[in-house]
Amino acid sequence: MALFRPAKAPVRGAVVLVTGAGSGIGELMAVGAAQRGAKAVCVWDVDAAAASRVAHEIERRGGAARAWRVDVADGHCVDAAAASVLAAFGRVDILVNNAGIVTGKRFAEMTEDDVERTFQVNVFSLYRTVRRFLPGMVERDRGSIVTIASAAGLVGVARQADYSASKFAAVGFTESLRSELRHSGSHVHTLVVAPYYIDTGMFDGVRTRVPLLLPILKPAKVADAVLDSVERGDQRRVLPRFANAVLTLKALPVPLLDAVTEAFGVSSTMDGFTGRRRGGRTAGGEETRRSEKAS
Ligand SMILES: NC(=O)c1ccc[n+]([C@@H]2O[C@H](COP(=O)([O-])OP(=O)(O)OC[C@H]3O[C@@H](n4cnc5c(N)ncnc54)[C@H](O)[C@@H]3O)[C@@H](O)[C@H]2O)c1
Repeated sequence: MALFRPAKAPVRGAVVLVTGAGSGIGELMAVGAAQRGAKAVCVWDVDAAAASRVAHEIERRGGAARAWRVDVADGHCVDAAAASVLAAFGRVDILVNNAGIVTGKRFAEMTEDDVERTFQVNVFSLYRTVRRFLPGMVERDRGSIVTIASAAGLVGVARQADYSASKFAAVGFTESLRSELRHSGSHVHTLVVAPYYIDTGMFDGVRTRVPLLLPILKPAKVADAVLDSVERGDQRRVLPRFANAVLTLKALPVPLLDAVTEAFGVSSTMDGFTGRRRGGRTAGGEETRRSEKAS
């Protein structure tokens, strides 16, 4: 049986687009892609000032970047920004679907709006961006679609009935897309990333019971690992490596699986969750900053 290998996706010379690139690992992946020689980095974020700051930082380091204020939960906004990106660069080679939100609420406190918003940002956005940029990749038979999911997309976690479900959906979306691309003989690459908690602020207050095996991850290491995986052609990256065990554990009978995840403290990780408090959000699809180097 021949193993199917998609084409690798070199960052050097690529047009890279990162959603939610105004902070956290999105920012670090955007900056990292520029440092690896990307032709241009498209910085998308709902926070216009954050997107501009990151594009400016990339330019300051000698890279090429443009920032767009994009709410990925808004289809019109994504369409307008995608058209603007394609008009500017003609293509996107590496699309990193990174924007994400979390409520951290217990199920009983979760509102319909919380669930709707979480799925809009963490799931429905994937359809919107991929619909705009995949056709060009398929035509060129190269490119990479990266989904930043979560280890919570592999196993359910207390106080994440919205978030974890959205990340399961993100994993399923990417696996299905991979299957479809493979089945049609396409060499477009997909990568699903499933990290444990990362120290970005998004999950402030969480704790890990077994820091040696399941440490709270350093943002820079995660960002680097994702770019390495894109360049190597990995199709799934679970971080830390130990968290891959969950893929095997899921074959266990449920009481046994629950006993093991309980022993690792998975259900209590969110007990002290506060999350990051963030100011007002804006919506729109306009470019917020233009880099002459990017043209
Ligand atoms: N931090 C963690 O512990 C952790 C663990 C696993 C997976 N992840 C995932 O990694 C990704 C990045 O998370 P992070 O920790 O860097 O978080 P972060 O909060 O630092 O960054 C998320 C970025 O997304 C942007 N964003 C939010 N809603 C948006 C919208 N509607 N449209 C456009 N941009 C929007 C925010 O403004 C922010 O800049 C997310 O998908 C998250 O679910 C995070």
